[in-house]
Amino acid sequence: MPGNHPAVRRTPAARRRVASTPSVLVTLDPGRQVPLHQQVYADIRDAILSGRIAARAQLPSSRLLAGELGISRTTVSLAFDQLRAEGYLETRERGGTFVAATIPDRALSAARRPAARPSPRPAARPAPAAPALGPSRRGIVLSAPTTPAMAVSSHPARAFRTGIPALDAFPHSVWGHISARLWRRAPRTLLAYGAPNGYEPLRRAIAHYIQMSRAVRCTAEQVIIVGGSQEALYLSAQLLVEPGDAAWIEDPGYAGARNALAAAGARIVGVPLDDEGLDVAHGRRLAPHARLAYITPSHQYPLGVTMSIGRRLAMLDWARQSGAWILEDDYDSEFRYSSRPLPSLQGLEAEDNARDGRVIYIGSFSKTLFPSLRIGFLVVPSMLVDTFGAARAVLDRQSPTVEQAVLAEFIAAGHFARHVRRMRALYAERQDALLRAAHDGPLAEHVQTIAADAGMHLVAWLRHIRDDMHASACALDAGVEAPSLSAKCLSFNQPAALLLGYAGFTPQTLAKASERLAVALQVARKSPHKRTSAPVAGTGHHT
Ligand SMILES: Cc1ncc(COP(=O)(O)O)c(C=O)c1O
Repeated sequence: MPGNHPAVRRTPAARRRVASTPSVLVTLDPGRQVPLHQQVYADIRDAILSGRIAARAQLPSSRLLAGELGISRTTVSLAFDQLRAEGYLETRERGGTFVAATIPDRALSAARRPAARPSPRPAARPAPAAPALGPSRRGIVLSAPTTPAMAVSSHPARAFRTGIPALDAFPHSVWGHISARLWRRAPRTLLAYGAPNGYEPLRRAIAHYIQMSRAVRCTAEQVIIVGGSQEALYLSAQLLVEPGDAAWIEDPGYAGARNALAAAGARIVGVPLDDEGLDVAHGRRLAPHARLAYITPSHQYPLGVTMSIGRRLAMLDWARQSGAWILEDDYDSEFRYSSRPLPSLQGLEAEDNARDGRVIYIGSFSKTLFPSLRIGFLVVPSMLVDTFGAARAVLDRQSPTVEQAVLAEFIAAGHFARHVRRMRALYAERQDALLRAAHDGPLAEHVQTIAADAGMHLVAWLRHIRDDMHASACALDAGVEAPSLSAKCLSFNQPAALLLGYAGFTPQTLAKASERLAVALQVARKSPHKRTSAPVAGTGHHT
């Protein structure tokens, strides 16, 4: 509590300088494989990078923080030591631990400023010490994602892992035939270096498909092929955001976007949601001049809300007024079961704005085909085509041409549309199977859930358990993967819930996993584990 910290009580000025209760910025999960000191380190580092703890703010002592978190002082000291070694914290002579005046990612932007004028008589300086071995500051920022969600388990997917399509129903033979035929002819152009923006026939096939199915307004020129949405997010963040710029993300939201933006030095601003999608007015209050907003308007990840038309227009208004970019991630819009999809936000932008539109549309074949394909795409305003192409060439030159050619033919020959239609029917059946277990089967006692009109997972609200991370850990002990909703939250609390992916699993597998999950939730209920700390303050329920 703020009042517990002696420095807070001193003067109003001191109150402002002391980091507000770092304990609420730290969310410990003893069930995770990550050691506790690493969790403390990562959360404080995240709070510093996102500006939630200001530069030069004083932190409470390791003893006080350890007491508030209910962990040993050595654990906190280890975290502080690491933060100190990496330049995030410094210790002052007269005691106390402070956030450094220049934090590592800000130093990146400082490096771009013109060099200071040399002093007329340079003072004699000791020879600089050899730099310590290890990654650069940029490397440290990049390799320590703000959430561990990018670490993908190497185990085969178990129910209810989210984001896994029906790999058992993939049309291997069609894909194999196209691939074999291409290899038999294998024109040399397919084997040589290709265009960084992507294989022309694939760009045309995608442009045609998204114009028809998502009302995206674009030419093939504006389509840039990348290695999945993740590369699209990474490139967009690097090319459009200056270190220190604010960036809105949905809260709760997708860790892949959050990590890509944090890696570019963005100040991450979580914006809450309601049943119309991202609350634009709230975003305007939190960070009116944000440089960019990341949203999933067709089907919000993970809550599944579809952004209303009013909100879409409010989003575009804000972006136009404040000169911000909007990243529209349309990751699973193909799987809509009961209602008609709204056209893309990109398509809503007025026609005469096409050259200097503010929306960057992102798509991926990870959900419609398979994730290891690593093919996704961006649709960028014309003025950005060359910038993205040039950056792509520097990063990894291009995506593999043969896979792009197979995919181009798969789409052009109508196999893609057919596969998506089949999967839509299959996923609707699988969702029904999971709903039966949740409504009439073993899970009914523990969770409350309603049918989703789109997507590949359900949100299962826990009836009796308040700590969904604990429930998720108990499920994992029982061999069931059910990520917690809290793990996707940044600043705003949600009621406890688990995310249950169904698309990748047969009804039989879903039924068995539901039984195991019900047993695990019974165990979790009997051994309630108090969440060590909620996400940061200023919380409220926004579903
Ligand atoms: C919101 C969201 N966007 C995009 C993706 C796909 O990412 P990628 O194309 O990098 O595989 C996912 C995957 O889970 C996702 O949840």
